[in-house]
Formats: sequence, structure tokens, C-alpha cells
Amino acid sequence: MLPTVAPFPDARFRRLRATPSLRALVRQNTLSPADFIWPVFVMAGHDDETPVASMPGVSRLTVDRVVRAAKRAHGLGIPAICLFPYTAMEARTEDCAEAWNPDNLTNRAIRAIKDAVPEIAVMTDIALDPYNINGHDGFVVDGEIVNDRTVEALVKMALAQAVAGADILGPSDMMDGRIGALRQALESEGHQNVAILSYSAKYASAFYGPFRDAVGASAALKGDKATYQMDPGNSDEAMRLIQRDLMEGADMVMVKPGMPYLDICRRVKDSFGVPTYAYQVSGEYAMLQAAAQNGWLDGRKVMLESLLCFKRAGCDGILTYFAPEAAEILNG
Ligand code: PBG
Repeated sequence: MLPTVAPFPDARFRRLRATPSLRALVRQNTLSPADFIWPVFVMAGHDDETPVASMPGVSRLTVDRVVRAAKRAHGLGIPAICLFPYTAMEARTEDCAEAWNPDNLTNRAIRAIKDAVPEIAVMTDIALDPYNINGHDGFVVDGEIVNDRTVEALVKMALAQAVAGADILGPSDMMDGRIGALRQALESEGHQNVAILSYSAKYASAFYGPFRDAVGASAALKGDKATYQMDPGNSDEAMRLIQRDLMEGADMVMVKPGMPYLDICRRVKDSFGVPTYAYQVSGEYAMLQAAAQNGWLDGRKVMLESLLCFKRAGCDGILTYFAPEAAEILNG
């Protein structure tokens, strides 16, 4: 590459920072509501919601209110909403059968949204944790989280969601071989156009704490998820997982959590050039909100800055609980 920097004072970097117009002209990355996938928590009941204590500003919503949220999201230009169920404790079992019940909360919410706002893309979560008495993403047999039996259950769960009308499936379970099994089942059951956004590089992170409160999995969870989620010290493994999931038929890939893992986002985008997403997870949201509520950070500014930085790191989009608030600001 030719040298592009003249010696001072011919080059003065501050020239292009001097006014908002010049800064706008040279800005490489921008945010738009179309960059967001909005995760929402669904609960039973009617016209009701309960706040999640560890996620200020986030509530679990009944299906009718999720529909209202989807309408709002669509109106704001947010292309997708992602559903996470708060399953009643009685429906959590060792066999996790509620996960593929066609009338479970998620599937009812998918149908209700697709009825009312067919334009918005509905994404789901595929993992057994909201249905598992053990709080784990897979079946627990003699203390072990078993892989292959779990994958069979995930396939049943995915097909029920596809039948209900899900547009994007989000396997977040980190079992091996699940993307191939899901893709094959979707193809053979006539769901060729259902997309898979794989949680390919999902780390065993303490930043998921508030989410586990939101879906009621914190109390149930025995031990940790280190035998299936990634070790935070690893980077090459993330590349291998992304490649594996793409080879098995994933359409899009995700890195999770977000902010502490921006190096992984950049590597993924540079290495594969595929649609790449990051999940700004519950703990990241909670940190920023807590600091803002204490007056320690400017909540609005850190929200927008944190989201923009995902774009700079190579992400095409971000799953974020800030989606509606950020979209409102971006829409002026
Ligand atoms: C469940 C799942 C988790 C999240 C998304 N799907 C939690 C976990 O793996 O324990 C975390 C999302 C967040 O923290 O915002 N498989």
C-alpha cells in the first residue's frame, strides 16, 4: 500500500473532525433500526406484564402484548423479533416435552404475531433450558448433558416452531451436530425457507445471569454450562464452530456475548464474509442500565455507542434489548 499520511502540518487529522457534516461524510459505520433483532420474553396470561428485576426496562409480556410489541417493532423499522418463553414451573420436566408442544407459549406467540404482523420476521430460540427441570440446554443423564438424544429433541422443537410459522430458528444449545440435523429435518418436512441463525460461537458466560432470571432458569440450574458452551479463553475454536455450522447449513451465524467478544466478531466477518450477528446479552444490558440509573454513565449515549461498535467490529446486526429505544432515537 502507498503511504497515505503526509507529514504534519500537511496532514492534520482534525480537519475532517471539525464539523458534524465532515464527520458524517467520513463515518464508515452507521446504525439503523434495520440492524436490530429485538429479544422479548413471553409469559402466560392476558394483557399483562411483569418487570424483570435485573433488567430495568424489560418485562415479560403476555402473548397479546407480544403482538403489540411486534407491531411497534415493525412500525419502528425493526425487521425481527426473537421470542423467549417464561415457562410455568409445572411444565418443566426431565423429558422437556413442553418444548415441542404445538401450543406452548412460543408457538402461540409465533402464530399470533404472524396473524397480526406477517411482515416482521419471527425468530425463536432452540434449546431445552426453559422446559428442563434441570435448567440445562440438553437432557441430563447421570449428571451428564447428553448430546445426541438432545439433538433429536431439538429437531422436534424446531419442527413445531416451523409449523407455527417461525421465520428464523436460533439454536442456542451448543450441542454438536444440531445444525445438520435441523437443516435436514426442515428440508424433508417442507420448510425449505426457514432460516437458521446459529448461535455458533456461544461462550460459557456469566453475562447471561439476568436472562436466566427472566426465563426462570436461574434457580433450576445445577452446575454450569461449561461442557457445552465455549471456553472464554478460546478464539480459534470459534472459527472452527462457525465453519462447521456453515457447512451443516446455517444461513447466519452469531457470536455471544457481544461486547467482550468483538475480536471474535471481527475474525468471523473477515474469515467467512457471511451474515454475522452478535448478541448484546442480558448482562451487558444490565450493566449499562445500572450505571445509567446511578447517573454514572449517559445511558442514551452508551447504548448507541455500544451498538455502533458491533457494526464496526463487522456485525451485520445485533440482538439487543435496547432495540425499540435505540430505534426510536435513530428515527428521530
Ligand atoms: C438459552 C439461552 C441463553 C441466552 C439465550 N438463549 C442463556 C444461557 O445459555 O444460559 C442468553 C441471552 C442473554 O443473556 O441475554 N439457551
